Amino acid sequence: MLKGFCLVLLLQTLYCSVSCNDFSSFLSANASLAVVLDEDYLRKRDENIFDQVKKTIDDVIRENLKNGGLAVRYFSWSSVRLKKDFVAAITVADCARTWKFFEDAEETAILLLAITEPDCPRLPLDQAVMIPIIDRGEEIPQLILDIKVQKILNWRTSVLLFDSSIEAKTTQIIASLAHEGPKNMFNPISVYLYKIDESLRNQQKKTAIKKALLQFANRPHNQFIVFSSSIEDVVELAASLNMFHVFNQWLFFLPVTTDRVNTYSLTQNLNEGANIAFAVNDTVVGCQETLLCSIAELVHGFVDGLSKVIEEEGSLYGQISDEEWEAIRLTKKERQNEILEYVKEYLRKNNQCSGCSQWSFKSMESWGRSRRYTKTVQRIDLSSSFDYDYVDVGYWSPLFGFVSKDVLFPHISHKFRNISLNVITYHNPPWQILSYNQRGEIEESSGIVIELLKELSNKLNFTYKLQGSYEDILKIEQENTTALSGSLTNTVPQRIVNAMMNRNVFMGAMGVTVHDPSKVPYNYTDPISIQKYTLISKRPDEVNRIYLFTAPFTILTWACLAAAVILTAPALYLINKYSPLDILRTEGLNKMKNCFWYVYGALLQQGGMYLPKADSGRVIIGIWWIVVIVLVTTYCGNLVAFLTFPKFQRGIDYLFETFSHKEVTTYGLRNGTFFQIYAQQSTRKDFKKFLEHAVLYDDVITEDIASVQKGLRVNVDWRINLQMSIQKHFEESKVCEFLLGKEDFVDEQIALVLPGGSPYLGIVNNEIKRLHQMGFIERWHQLYLPGTNKCNAKSKSRQITNHMVNLNDMQGCFLVLFFGFSLSAFLIIGEFIFHRFILSREKKLGTYTN
Ligand SMILES: *[C@@H]1O[C@H](CO)[C@@H](O)[C@H](O)[C@H]1NC(C)=O
Ligand SMILES: *[C@@H]1O[C@H](CO)[C@@H](O)[C@H](O)[C@H]1NC(C)=O
Ligand SMILES: *[C@@H]1O[C@H](CO)[C@@H](O)[C@H](O)[C@H]1NC(C)=O
Ligand SMILES: *[C@@H]1O[C@H](CO)[C@@H](O)[C@H](O)[C@H]1NC(C)=O
Ligand SMILES: *[C@@H]1O[C@H](CO)[C@@H](O)[C@H](O)[C@H]1NC(C)=O
Ligand SMILES: *[C@@H]1O[C@H](CO)[C@@H](O)[C@H](O)[C@H]1NC(C)=O
Repeated sequence: MLKGFCLVLLLQTLYCSVSCNDFSSFLSANASLAVVLDEDYLRKRDENIFDQVKKTIDDVIRENLKNGGLAVRYFSWSSVRLKKDFVAAITVADCARTWKFFEDAEETAILLLAITEPDCPRLPLDQAVMIPIIDRGEEIPQLILDIKVQKILNWRTSVLLFDSSIEAKTTQIIASLAHEGPKNMFNPISVYLYKIDESLRNQQKKTAIKKALLQFANRPHNQFIVFSSSIEDVVELAASLNMFHVFNQWLFFLPVTTDRVNTYSLTQNLNEGANIAFAVNDTVVGCQETLLCSIAELVHGFVDGLSKVIEEEGSLYGQISDEEWEAIRLTKKERQNEILEYVKEYLRKNNQCSGCSQWSFKSMESWGRSRRYTKTVQRIDLSSSFDYDYVDVGYWSPLFGFVSKDVLFPHISHKFRNISLNVITYHNPPWQILSYNQRGEIEESSGIVIELLKELSNKLNFTYKLQGSYEDILKIEQENTTALSGSLTNTVPQRIVNAMMNRNVFMGAMGVTVHDPSKVPYNYTDPISIQKYTLISKRPDEVNRIYLFTAPFTILTWACLAAAVILTAPALYLINKYSPLDILRTEGLNKMKNCFWYVYGALLQQGGMYLPKADSGRVIIGIWWIVVIVLVTTYCGNLVAFLTFPKFQRGIDYLFETFSHKEVTTYGLRNGTFFQIYAQQSTRKDFKKFLEHAVLYDDVITEDIASVQKGLRVNVDWRINLQMSIQKHFEESKVCEFLLGKEDFVDEQIALVLPGGSPYLGIVNNEIKRLHQMGFIERWHQLYLPGTNKCNAKSKSRQITNHMVNLNDMQGCFLVLFFGFSLSAFLIIGEFIFHRFILSREKKLGTYTN
């Protein structure tokens, strides 16, 4: 019983330490503030300011506290554990003790306003104020640490180029970059250090910088921090090494407050696509930087905030009843947050002591700069340079750390930042299928390339404006009449080639054959598709079935069978004849003719009337019967198979077979294919031969598919184009009369195009690679390209399931029957003649003898 009671009490206490409104309101009790001045730390700093602090604080409170009362208690030992009735604590201690104090104070919900040494990881900005006391010009390590702790940079490596102005601080800077935080909260950034020696003469310095940069020129994804007065040289050399590309990030520190024009002139000759941020020293000159001043400022801020909170509470309390007040009054935590906000606001406005050094950050907005779509036609002078826009991304001050308004490298995080880009295209199904409205604008678009473009625009955060042309509209209108179905990607319209030389187009959204990248004024992306060529010919006829019944055995087998019959008969005859005992001889077998018929009859499973009586003869008959059984079984089984699966003549599966085919007299090839160009340069003889004799066709009439159907012609084209024409033919006539070759030759790569030297080739290629890996591109192919040939699939299954034995199959059999009848008719006639001959001879002889 007692135990249970204790437990409840314990739980209650535990619970209350977290959330109960067990502290008194400022209306009924004075607020209390703890001031902790760590003696060790002050001794280290050599400041003996205890009495001064006390006096200053008293003054500040007297002058500024308008409502309520404030009790201040002083401690000189920072390991003190404060009771929870303190509202706030102002501490002056080193970094480790400040953090320790913060962790303790968090439990008791005491607001911490800390003054500490430099290079201290910042306390959470929404829970405390932390002011590192930094000497003039020493702020860089703290700045970098703040950037890191606030996760403004999420780099893994960086290259630090510096000169003598911060040489002494490199150790701290490296420590800041490598800071991991408790429980490895932050990734340490590994650093390459390069010192730029300013004492070198102009040309020598450039050589040294170039040498340092060269090591990173061919690596993608570099991050640079440049801290040097020779920034112009670094920019110039990096530009000449082509290191301002979309994957590199550059953070330049401009140590002396430079006029703004300077940063513009630095970057105006750079290509777009660079990721550059500048940190500019905006330090206010002529402000006081003493510990005392900072403390006074903090206390002032706190007292101001406290007054306001008390005033708010008082005015609210006057309007409602006690019960309501208990229900709605703020918890300690909430009240602390409110005071914190007031303190921050005060410091922001009235900062005189601690926030002298200040760095503002701005980033270049360069991606898609000249490729934007605007309603008015853009005229861009290719030789002109840009005034890039700069985004104000935030500032840093010792009071609040990095205050960000935007991400530090906007293009790394947001890519194109939702700008609208010019994209040029033309109608060419199935890659890009366009439809125009009456005003000649593109209304709808689909196709493999357009799907890809949509996905790119999603991933790279841009919108796009497709630009078609009038020629396209004509082409779409003509399509129903003369154009071939199927597609060609080898010719790019001149209009697009021209546009590609301009830099106001982001990309050409069209499938184009990759051919000779060095000779075209544009860059190909990675291939999005690979098309192969094959040949189309007449589907071969079935093998003539008149000899079907002989098909189960080869000719040699038939010959051996005949030989066996012919040899077995004499053997039987002789064995029977030379049997030593008369009684063992069988009457019926004593003629050669009879033996032959006997053996032949056995083959047809007729059996015979006689059996040899001698064992020797019996063995021969027995063995023969075994042979007969094997032969007959094999024959019957095979015959069934040959009946069910019809055999075809050899079709044309490989290119070289076309030349030996007697019927085929012409070869056809679509005009302007990649195959044509390839074959001209190829060393393969069959390609050359084919090309020499090929008829080049441009439209349906010269394609002459009817000739192919008759077996007089073989055409070569993309497999998918041929499949399409087969399918079309099948839908019209419901029969399959074409055969595609088994051989695939010449891989034709299809890719998109970007203007020559486009800075965005790399990121577009990365996206294409990703889409390949995720199977999107494959899926779009299935959607827009004809699938496996229906015609082939259907006819194959029909052969297997319902083949009925027809006259074609049986004709050979009937022919044999007819042959048998004829032979016996012939024989009977012979027998008659022979009989007559005998009779007449007998008559003659008779008359003679008579
Ligand atoms: C509050 O502080 C004032 C002086 O600031 C003092 O006169 C008063 O007695 C204090 N009240 C309590 C309850 O401690
Ligand atoms: C920033 O500018 C101030 C005033 O011009 C200067 O005193 C300070 O040394 C500069 N900071 C750095 C890191 O150079
Ligand atoms: C796209 O850019 C806009 C504008 O900068 C930005 O607000 C948005 O977050 C970006 N979207 C993505 C997915 O990056
Ligand atoms: C991007 O721009 C389009 C049109 O310009 C707009 O409709 C869309 O809301 C923007 N998206 C973002 C994330 O800003
Ligand atoms: C093309 O042919 C299809 C059907 O054969 C027809 O629906 C369509 O209107 C035709 N298009 C043109 C532009 O003549
Ligand atoms: C892109 O095009 C430019 C100019 O046409 C050329 O110098 C460059 O080598 C091309 N880049 C690639 C990767 O093909």
